[in-house]
Amino acid sequence: MTRPRRNQRHIPEPLWALFPTGPGRERMTDVRLFVGKLASANFGSIARWTLDRIQEIWDRLSWCAARLRMKAYELLPLRGRLPPGSLTLSAYRDATRDDRFYLKQYGRHGPIFKLLWGSKHLKICIVGYQLARRLLNQHSSSLGPVMTTSIAPLVPSDYLRAMNPAIHPHYRSLFVGTLRNDLISGCESDIRQIIRDELDRLAALIRTESRLALLFRETLDRIAMRLLFLVILGVRSNAEMLSSLVAAYHQLGPDGHVSPVGPQQHAAFAAIRGMVLQIAESLQHAGATGFSDSVLSRLALAAEALVDDTVIGNVIYMVERGRHDFRDLLRWIVKHLSDNPSVVTDLRAEFTMPGANPRLADACVMETLRLEQAEAVGREALAPFTLEGYHVPKGSWVGALLREAHRDPNIFPEPDRFRPRRFLERTYSANEYSPFGIDEHQCIARSLTIKAGAMFVEELSRGYRWIVAADGPCVFNGIHWQPSPHFAIDIRRHPSES
Ligand code: HEM
Repeated sequence: MTRPRRNQRHIPEPLWALFPTGPGRERMTDVRLFVGKLASANFGSIARWTLDRIQEIWDRLSWCAARLRMKAYELLPLRGRLPPGSLTLSAYRDATRDDRFYLKQYGRHGPIFKLLWGSKHLKICIVGYQLARRLLNQHSSSLGPVMTTSIAPLVPSDYLRAMNPAIHPHYRSLFVGTLRNDLISGCESDIRQIIRDELDRLAALIRTESRLALLFRETLDRIAMRLLFLVILGVRSNAEMLSSLVAAYHQLGPDGHVSPVGPQQHAAFAAIRGMVLQIAESLQHAGATGFSDSVLSRLALAAEALVDDTVIGNVIYMVERGRHDFRDLLRWIVKHLSDNPSVVTDLRAEFTMPGANPRLADACVMETLRLEQAEAVGREALAPFTLEGYHVPKGSWVGALLREAHRDPNIFPEPDRFRPRRFLERTYSANEYSPFGIDEHQCIARSLTIKAGAMFVEELSRGYRWIVAADGPCVFNGIHWQPSPHFAIDIRRHPSES
C-alpha cells in the first residue's frame, strides 16, 4: 500500500489557468511579466513548458473521452447496467479531498458504486468483507493486480503482489516461511534500540532546529528503514554499508514508492542489488557472522538454493515499499495517541503495574489500522464480468474498501472514535476486521507490523513526553489518507527514563 509518484495523473487545470489573468492594470503587469519571462527563457525550457501544456490538454481530453464512453455505456446498457454512482470530475475531486466521500457514497448507493478515477479507469467500489471475498473467489480468473506499480523492468517475475499466479505460491511460501514470529522476537532488543536512538536524536534536534514536521517525518522514516534493513536484510545499525544503503534507498524512492521506474530507480536498484548480493555471498561463505538473523539470511543459508534474482528483487522492494507503509503507520499512531492522551495515560499506568497487559500496545496499532492506512485492496478486471447483477467492464479497477468496512457501527460502536480497548474486549472475525488483505495476497508482514508498531507505542509512551507543535486537516497522497503535512510534535525524554 505505497504511494506511486510519477504515475499519478492529475486532472489538469483548465486552459485559462495557464495564463496570467487579472483586471486592468494588474492584468497588463502580469502579461508584461509573462512576456518578460518568455523573453528570458531559453529554448529548452519553452519547449518543455509547451510539451507539458500539450500533455495536460491531452490528458484532459482523454479523460473526457473516457467519461463519454462510460456515459454511453450507462445510456445503452447492452451488456448490463453499471453500478450506481457519479462519473463527474467533481466526484473524483471529492474522493481525493473528503475522507468521508466513500462512506457518503455507501450511504447513498449501497455496497457497490462507481466513479471515474483520474487515471481514466472506471473504479468500482465494494464495501463489506463478505461481498469482497465473494468477488475475489468467484471472479479470480477475471481479476489481476493493478499494474501501475509494477517493477517488472527491475525484477524478472515482478513483486509478489503482481506475480503470475502460477509462480506466486512458490515465492510467497519462501517469504512467509522466513518472516516468522521467532525472527521478530529475536530482533526485539535491536528494534527497541533503533526506536530509542531515533527518538532521542529527534528530542535533541528539536532544541536547535525549527522544521519540526520535517524532522518528525524523517525520524519515522529512519526508524522504518533501519528496522527493515535489520529484519529483511540482516543489516545492523553499526554495519559499514548502512550509510550507502540509506543513500541508495533515498534515491530509489525519495518520498514514497516511485512508479513507473525511471533511470534514477535503475541506478539505485543496481547499487542496492550489489550490496544485497555481497551480503548473500558473505553469508554463504562465512555463515551468519557479521549479519543478523533475517529473511535474507534464512533463505541464503537454507540447504537448497533458494536465492535467485526474483528473491533478491523482492527483498529489496519489501524494504522499499514496507518502509513507506510503516513510516506512515507510525505517523498515524503518534497522531491518534496525541489526540487521545487518556490512552497514553492508560499505557503508562499499565507499565507500572505488575502483570500489566502488554496487549494494549498491540491494540493501539490495530485500532490505528482500523481507522487509517489500510484503505483498500485493488484489482483490475482483465475480462468483463457480472457482479451482483452489475456489469464490470474490462479494464475497470475494482476496490474492496477496507477503511469503510472498518467503520461499520454495528461491528465497531462509535466507529470514528480511537478506542484501542475494543480489541481487548472481544475478538473480530476476518469478515469484520482484515486490514492486511483478504485473499492469497494477504500481507506477509502482518506480525512484524503489529509487533514492531507495539514496540514503538511502548517506547514512545514510556520514555518520552510530547506535545503537538503543529497540525492541520488530513490529506490524500494518491493512495492513502495521511495526517496533515504540518503535523509535528515537540518531544522530550522523560527525566525518569534518562
Ligand atoms: C502499515 C503497514 C502495512 C499494511 C496496512 C499492509 C497491508 C497490506 C495489504 C492490504 C496487502 C494485500 C494487498 C492485495 O491484496 O493486493 C499487503 C500485501 C503485502 N504486503 Fe503489506 N502492509 C503493511 C506493511 C508491510 C511491510 C512492512 C511489508 C514488508 C515486508 C509488507 C509486505 C507485503 C507484501 C510482500 C505483500 C504482498 C503479498 C503477496 O502478494 O503474496 N507489508 N499488505
